[in-house]
Amino acid sequence: MAKNSYKICLLPGDGIGPEIIVEAVKVLDTIGGLYDTDFFYTEALLGGIAIDATGTALPAETLEIAKGSDAVLLAAVGGPKWDTTDPTKPRPEQGLLGIRKELGLYANLRPVKIFGALKDSSSLKSENVEGVDMVIVRELTGGLYFGKRDRMYDVPGAGIDGAAGMRAYDTLEYSEYEIERIVRHAFEAARGRRRKVHSVDKANVLESSRLWREIAHRVAADYPDVEIIDQLVDNTAMQLVRWPAQFDVIVTENMFGDILSDEASMLTGSLGMLASASLGDGTALYEPSHGSAPDIASLGIANPIAQILSVELMLRYSFGMDEAADALAKAVEDVLDEGWRTKDIADASTLPQKTVGTTAMGDLIVEKLKA
Ligand code: IPM
Ligand code: MG
Repeated sequence: MAKNSYKICLLPGDGIGPEIIVEAVKVLDTIGGLYDTDFFYTEALLGGIAIDATGTALPAETLEIAKGSDAVLLAAVGGPKWDTTDPTKPRPEQGLLGIRKELGLYANLRPVKIFGALKDSSSLKSENVEGVDMVIVRELTGGLYFGKRDRMYDVPGAGIDGAAGMRAYDTLEYSEYEIERIVRHAFEAARGRRRKVHSVDKANVLESSRLWREIAHRVAADYPDVEIIDQLVDNTAMQLVRWPAQFDVIVTENMFGDILSDEASMLTGSLGMLASASLGDGTALYEPSHGSAPDIASLGIANPIAQILSVELMLRYSFGMDEAADALAKAVEDVLDEGWRTKDIADASTLPQKTVGTTAMGDLIVEKLKA
C-alpha cells in the first residue's frame, strides 16, 4: 500500500474527451508510482453520453460518485448530436453547469502562461506575448449562466410586423456574498503572485457590475499590499491583445470570464494548452478550458496537454503534491522544448517527424517524468 491514496472521479464526456482523459490517467499513474501515491478511479457519465444512456446530462449517480471522491477530472462535453435550440430538450452543457453548481465550485482558475517553445505559435507577434503570466479567476456558479430565464410564446407584438411572437430573457444577478468570496479568492491568489488584481466589470452600464465594483473595493481594503485596477470588460478584451503582460490576476463575472478566457488562451497558441481548476468548499473539479472538439474526435490528433495540465492543478490544489506538480509542468515544458507538437500547436518550423498524435504526446510526457 502506498503512503497516500486518493479517489478520483473521471468524467470523459463527449467528443475528444475519452481520448484525452486516457492520457491524463497515464500521467497520474506515473506520478503515483514516482511519489508513492495510489490513485483510484471511478468513471461516471456526464454530458451527451449521459443523455443517451439515462436521458439526463447529470445523472444522480454521477453526482454521488463526484461528491464521494477527493477530486474530479473532467474532459469535455457537447457535440452536434445534442445541439438543439428547443428549451425542453436536455443539453450536455446542463451537465457541466449542474455539476459546478451542485459541488459549489464558485471559483474557476484559468492560468495563462506562455511556453517559451510556443511563443511563435501565439496569434500575436512573439514580442507582444513576452512575459505573459496571468490567471483568470472566473466566478462560476452565479451571474448570467444561472439567472432566471424563460422563453415566452404568443407574446403580443413580439413577432414580425407587430404580430404575436416569441420573446426570451436571461438575468444577471449577484448577491453580495457571491462577489465577496470570489474577489477574496483572487486577492489571495495575487498574494502568491505579482500582487495585482484587475477587477473586470461593466459598471458604466450594469447595476450588477456596480455592486461588483463596490464589493471588490471593500475586499481590496483588506489587502493593502495588492493593487486593484477596475477595468471595463470591453476594454479588457482589447487590452488582452494589446498588452497582455500587464495582467497578473483577472477576476470577473461568469460570462465575462468565459469569453475572456477563450480569448486569452490564444495568447498561448492554442485553446488546447489551457487548463482550469474549479474550486469551492468541497471536492474540486479539474478540466481543460476547451470543448469537446467533435470535428476531430476519434482521429487521434487532439492535444492532451490542457487535460494533462489540469492534472498538474489537481496535484497542487487538491492533493498538496507541489513537487509532483512542478515535475509535471517541467515535463510538459521539456517535451515542447524538444520540438514535439500536436497538430494544433505545430507551425512551419515543426519537423514532420515531430508532429505527433494524442497518445504519443501523452507517452512523451510520461517518459520525461520517468527520466
Ligand atoms: C467553459 C465552457 C462552458 C462554459 C460551456 C461548455 C457551458 O465554455 O468551460 O468555458 O461556458 O462554462
Ligand atoms: Mg468557455
